Amino acid sequence: MKLNITCIPGDGIGPEIVAEAKKVLSRVCEVYGHELVTRDVLMGGCSIDAYGVPLTEETIEAAKSADAVLMGSIGGNTSTSPWYKLEPSKRPEAGLLGIRKALNLFANLRPAYLYPELMKACPLKEESAKKGFDMLIMRELTGGLYFGERYTKEVDGELTATDTLVYKESEIRRIAIKAFEVARKRRKSVISVDKANVLDSSRLWRKVVEEVAKDYPDVTLEHMLVDNCAMQLVRDPSQFDVVLTENMFGDILSDEASMITGSIGMLPSASLNDTTFGLYEPSHGSAPDIAGQNIANPIATILSAAMMLRYSFNLNAEADAVENAVRQTITEGFRTGDLIRAGEDRSAALGCSAMGDIITERIR
Ligand code: IPM
Ligand code: MN
Repeated sequence: MKLNITCIPGDGIGPEIVAEAKKVLSRVCEVYGHELVTRDVLMGGCSIDAYGVPLTEETIEAAKSADAVLMGSIGGNTSTSPWYKLEPSKRPEAGLLGIRKALNLFANLRPAYLYPELMKACPLKEESAKKGFDMLIMRELTGGLYFGERYTKEVDGELTATDTLVYKESEIRRIAIKAFEVARKRRKSVISVDKANVLDSSRLWRKVVEEVAKDYPDVTLEHMLVDNCAMQLVRDPSQFDVVLTENMFGDILSDEASMITGSIGMLPSASLNDTTFGLYEPSHGSAPDIAGQNIANPIATILSAAMMLRYSFNLNAEADAVENAVRQTITEGFRTGDLIRAGEDRSAALGCSAMGDIITERIR
């Protein structure tokens, strides 16, 4: 099979982690007899430096013409980088939001799983960590506060900022369907997270999710308020299978979920539309503080490549091979610095490319 992939290395640690995921993909193609065709394009801060805008038509076209997109991360230090002196619509993040919208990537899948070997890196109480967890956050990605009208203007003599949270029934329905579909392939439970005690958008969310649930009598549905969910995630994450939620809540809860896996460097993600096309990126950011030092953890990006093999190419054995190689690497005790807790021996911490090499060698 020919895998036609557009890569967006991006900013910060992006180029380093994408290089490792590419290494893994080429090894997969070698072992399983596929042809890998990749092409790199700019997005985010590096695109601002080259073209003055974070996202160009060329990048959108390069993404559309591929089977899938592999992305690193975009953005810089918001206090020091000149990119953040630009108006908000010209900053790096606007590029990411723009490509999500342009490609209609409304479903963002963020699996959070605790490897038993990383239990020591998990900040939860031992009794909670011991139970383990394996959840998938299904985050709506092209609606809500991220894409509502926003402006700042003077009202009664003082600056007043407005952001609007809009959801249409059709937007809620299509993401709910995705959540129930994946739940069917997992432990058949959906917890839908909202703030229905306050927000109208959440009340509509609940109503539509309940309608969709009727078509999935084999899947159980529960509702949970977002503040409670944030608390339950650190109290007993084993209760979650599929967590269905809107854009902003999903952004916040997925960072929380990633931290309890031991490191934010472990969490992959897939952003999908209604076709097999997808954009795959780690859930973490560009970590400008450690960029260029070859110390970033490439696992989230490598696991994102595994999700790409599974969701965009339907290559399940190949995706398993990547996930097994990561698991084996962790079982054998290899760690990047982020997976080593304070007080433990840091001298054996691996660099980004060494971690990528070790995982690549274990693909079979
Ligand atoms: C993420 C990121 C983005 C988001 C930022 C960079 C705009 O935090 O993918 O979670 O908020 O969606
Ligand atoms: Mn985020």
